[in-house]
Amino acid sequence: MRKQVIAGNWKMNGTIASGSILIEAFTSFLGDKDLDCEIVVCPPFTALERAVCLTKNTQVSVGAQNMDYHDAGAFTGEVSPLMLMEVGVSYVIIGHSERREYYGETDAMVNEKIKSAFFHNLQPIVCVGESLEQREANETISFIHGQLKRALQDIPADQVEKLIIAYEPIWAIGTGKTATADQAEKVCKSIREYIAELYTPNVADLVRIQYGGSVKANNAREILSEPNIDGALVGGASLIVDEFTKIIMAAQELSN
Ligand code: PGA
Repeated sequence: MRKQVIAGNWKMNGTIASGSILIEAFTSFLGDKDLDCEIVVCPPFTALERAVCLTKNTQVSVGAQNMDYHDAGAFTGEVSPLMLMEVGVSYVIIGHSERREYYGETDAMVNEKIKSAFFHNLQPIVCVGESLEQREANETISFIHGQLKRALQDIPADQVEKLIIAYEPIWAIGTGKTATADQAEKVCKSIREYIAELYTPNVADLVRIQYGGSVKANNAREILSEPNIDGALVGGASLIVDEFTKIIMAAQELSN
């Protein structure tokens, strides 16, 4: 059975101090509960080191929201996988739609970043998702398959099976408009089928697929119950202790 993974994407919010309070609240809520799901928080770069310290010996892992794919060099303003490793980060979000939309990140860059993440033993969470126009034009599935094909170019099966793919319809991010569980499942299922086609059914069976886009405490259970949805990438609600802990508990109850 695939392990559910709940990741909080804090985006460009908060301070080191406010992030520390959040993490302390999550870790003390989780205490020594025996969790069957994976929990990840992805604070801004400046708060990563503190987050790693605060989560040591807890069930919470730390991820970055982005990285460059080079190890070092003249790339002003970027952060390399080696720097993330040095801080003790273990996950990295790659190709979030906000990176693609505001910073021109392409599928080719996403592909390089996935390769670099695996090379450095960072767990990539790779985001894909369609715009409202694409959904209305019935292009959702073909667009997402195209994104995946380009993102996974030359990535071997033994790495792809370890991937976390986050299906995040752009029209549902931060809008309060969640895809219905049915809509989300349909796309996640098609992602799994496409991985089976590109690789093997066994690889497709192992890859974990999250849904993201306005996941909240009150819709998490329904979404996470879908057979092809193995977790959630949570933005806004991951900054609210009561919301995020309820989402975690929904995943945990479904994992039992
Ligand atoms: P949201 O963001 O939960 O605030 O919609 C999700 C994301 O962008 O990962």
